[in-house]
Amino acid sequence: MEITITPRKRWTGRIAVPGDKSISHRAAILAALAEGDSLIENFLDSADTNATVRCLEALGVEIRRMDEETLLVVGRGLDGLRESQEVLHCGNSGTTLRLLTGLLAGFNFFSVLTGDASLRSRPLGRVIEPLKKMGAKLMARHDNELAPVAVQGGKLKALKYKLPIPSAQVKSAILLAALRHGHGTEITETIPSRDHTERMLAAMGMKLTIADGKITLDGGNKLEALRARIPGDISSASYLMAAAAIVPGSKLEIPSVCVNPTRTGFFNLLKRMGANVKIESKKNADLGEDVGDILCETESLTGINVNPEQVPAAIDELPLLAVVATQAYGWTRVTGAEELRVKESDRIAGVVEGLQKMGARIEEKPGGFAVEGPSPLQGARLDCKGDHRLAMAFAVAAQVAKGETVLEGAEAVDVSYPNFWSVFAPASTLV
Ligand code: S3P
Repeated sequence: MEITITPRKRWTGRIAVPGDKSISHRAAILAALAEGDSLIENFLDSADTNATVRCLEALGVEIRRMDEETLLVVGRGLDGLRESQEVLHCGNSGTTLRLLTGLLAGFNFFSVLTGDASLRSRPLGRVIEPLKKMGAKLMARHDNELAPVAVQGGKLKALKYKLPIPSAQVKSAILLAALRHGHGTEITETIPSRDHTERMLAAMGMKLTIADGKITLDGGNKLEALRARIPGDISSASYLMAAAAIVPGSKLEIPSVCVNPTRTGFFNLLKRMGANVKIESKKNADLGEDVGDILCETESLTGINVNPEQVPAAIDELPLLAVVATQAYGWTRVTGAEELRVKESDRIAGVVEGLQKMGARIEEKPGGFAVEGPSPLQGARLDCKGDHRLAMAFAVAAQVAKGETVLEGAEAVDVSYPNFWSVFAPASTLV
């Protein structure tokens, strides 16, 4: 699908974003293992989260859709999953593949998990290696590095593990593997990654100790069912924040967004650039999360340096930061973000290629990029590389570009923000 973007004159008013993707995956998975029925509201109805739902159904879990965004999950208890007769297809979703590989390593049956061409090229060894140390039997393509992966699960032993890279997916895979018989498992992370799994497990009655970068799963023999509302996705909200920050005369409110500090990295970077962004009405919400309303108004911006410690909390938004940096005074440099090369696409190469086509001064670096701004952008024909985050970042760039921007592969947004185009480019042409 191709989209021709007509930019909005300014971004004003109040725009809500769909439920958080990371939290939606986890809520469906943990509700499946809970005692009794869980009701999950504002569940993200997208290709990625629906892949998780379909895999859970194949594993014997009954999931009823009360409406588009409300799920009733019939919990089967911690021992309740059964062997799937089919290969579990995770589509484009790294979270589905990595979290379920971890979970299934603890079940005494055979599973095969795969995904689309992009997912089959993304690293899985980072999950397989610690799971093997716990005693699981796994085999994957390309010397245990790539999906499809075959898992013969079983009784696992507790693991003490230092994460070699900050990754919430790896951390969560280990925690899910340890849920049934890996109590005492300790995971150390040097840079914190998103902690939704830990918060949700604690909210459902599991005992965890979290101190000095070490997460210990102390135990608990059941998960309590959920009655929860998923907060808005701050990653989706970032595109709106960015548009309001750079399109002159904008003033936008984005209500009820998850403002968990492991996810506010982009918000903080934008603030450091001088953006007029703030969080109001912050309060505790379901699942151990914090929510608040985000307000953003246009302001002149200056370039910043983003160092490796700041990368994990903003990882999915760094291509968007490159777009914002094209409109900021001076240099913005991002280092230590090599992980961007193994996301749904090589996001460093993709964003540099796209923004250069639009006339930006941006240089590709091994672990990031350097952008010199401000520079006027020209509308161009861009390839989204099958990557939702690139498509949405380019849509923001198009808001300040002169002339038409045409995005090829615009349907990529379906994996995380299916109504993105209706919000972002209502007057645009879809082909
Ligand atoms: C996610 C973790 C991050 C992030 C991804 C979602 C999660 O990946 O990029 O979009 O839900 O745990 P890594 O764990 O690979 O950093």
